Amino acid sequence: MAQLWGGRFTKETDQLVYNFNASIGFDQKFYKQDIEGSIAHVIMLGRQGILTKEESDQIVDCLCQIKADVENGTLEISDKYEDIHSFVEATLIDRLGDVGKKLHTGRSRNDQVALDMRLYTRLQVLETDDLLKELLETILKLMEEHIDTIMPGFTHLQKAQPITLSHHMGAYFEMFKRDRQRLHDIFVRMNYCPLGSGALAGTTYPLDRDLTAELMGFYGPTLNSMDGVSDRDYLIEYLSACATIMMHLSRFCEEVIIWNSNEYQFVEIDDAYSTGSSIMPQKKNPDIAELVRGKTGRVYGALMSLLTTMKGIPLAYNKDMQEDKELSFDAMDTVKGCIALFNGMLATMKFNKERMYASANGGFTNATDAADYLVNHGVPFRDAHGIIGRLVLYCIDQNKAIDQLSLDELKAICPVFEQDIYDAISMETCVSKRLTIGAPGQEAMKKVIELEREYLAEDWTIDEDCKIR
Ligand code: ARG
Repeated sequence: MAQLWGGRFTKETDQLVYNFNASIGFDQKFYKQDIEGSIAHVIMLGRQGILTKEESDQIVDCLCQIKADVENGTLEISDKYEDIHSFVEATLIDRLGDVGKKLHTGRSRNDQVALDMRLYTRLQVLETDDLLKELLETILKLMEEHIDTIMPGFTHLQKAQPITLSHHMGAYFEMFKRDRQRLHDIFVRMNYCPLGSGALAGTTYPLDRDLTAELMGFYGPTLNSMDGVSDRDYLIEYLSACATIMMHLSRFCEEVIIWNSNEYQFVEIDDAYSTGSSIMPQKKNPDIAELVRGKTGRVYGALMSLLTTMKGIPLAYNKDMQEDKELSFDAMDTVKGCIALFNGMLATMKFNKERMYASANGGFTNATDAADYLVNHGVPFRDAHGIIGRLVLYCIDQNKAIDQLSLDELKAICPVFEQDIYDAISMETCVSKRLTIGAPGQEAMKKVIELEREYLAEDWTIDEDCKIR
């Protein structure tokens, strides 16, 4: 047991209590942020004359060395310390003696952990954003390649109207684009520095909170010290954005699983992204898509857990808040892993254009266009709808598609039909005539692709500002 406190205690902590209370097992994940926060704090203490310049320089150098030693493996983070903050401070004191004992001047673990978690989450926001951008590049490439690849569009999982693969991919482009926008919004709202909030009521030292905020790439300090130590809104917002990303990925996975099924065969998942069965030699399973779909629940769980943890906490810091970490860390890693794997699977997936075309062609997906043909020849839409309904019934009976009927058969149901009906209801016409912006027609899709390209080109760069200077 190694603790930063103990002066007012007359007994050793019970070992079970110690274990229950300790967080080093998981908060070591942000050792880097903890050390970087301490460096900024100590630079500021030096500039403000709270520590001498020599003391400040000495501590900064030692903290840099501790970070390097953890990274090169010569210093192991030991779980004999209560948390990562204690480990770093104890190591510093170990190496520097009395000077090391000055690190924690004008600071509490409450504002320290608030800072560490914010720095760590900010990094996750950026990394998640980068991964989404890569996924968007893959999707846009598919949109460009498959502008003429006709497939059925579904409602209720029933064939509805012909679309293109480009159009289908475009729907996901929009979803993941919104996910990135959400991350950007969160970044802007969260990028304020809680360091200097102290335990809850600030400190009596003349801290320069603007300086520490600036050193760590924040827009400025948070404006209320009680809120500074007890705010986890940014984490809830990030987990909520992650839950939405997972929901989008999961829907996409569901489609890939259906498209990859023996019945559909719209796609073939690359061997590198499939798995086999231990007993059935013929099997090639879409496990990655299923796992991404399956992992969505644990990310939702992390969000729900944190919301529940936070809902009963009176101001300011309470130990419940230590529970903000484990499930959040799991969710962060899960989301990033899922985006990366999904991207790899999508980029290597083969699309079976013939199967998709045949499926669109064979499923009465042109029935609306056949009704529109009658409308264009003076039949009121409601009547046209009824006529085409009877036509479809006849086709089902004859086991034929609408365009496989002879003109005589068509005329027997409605005399308005002429030879040009065949062209009017071809898959190609059905798609290419849908030209309002957002529709699958090639000319409309080209405009959308251009806009999405422009969106990806005007990059959102904040990386540099977020580095400690
Ligand atoms: N491990 C603690 C946490 O994660 C650090 C803050 C401790 N503060 C305290 N007052 N006990 O929240």
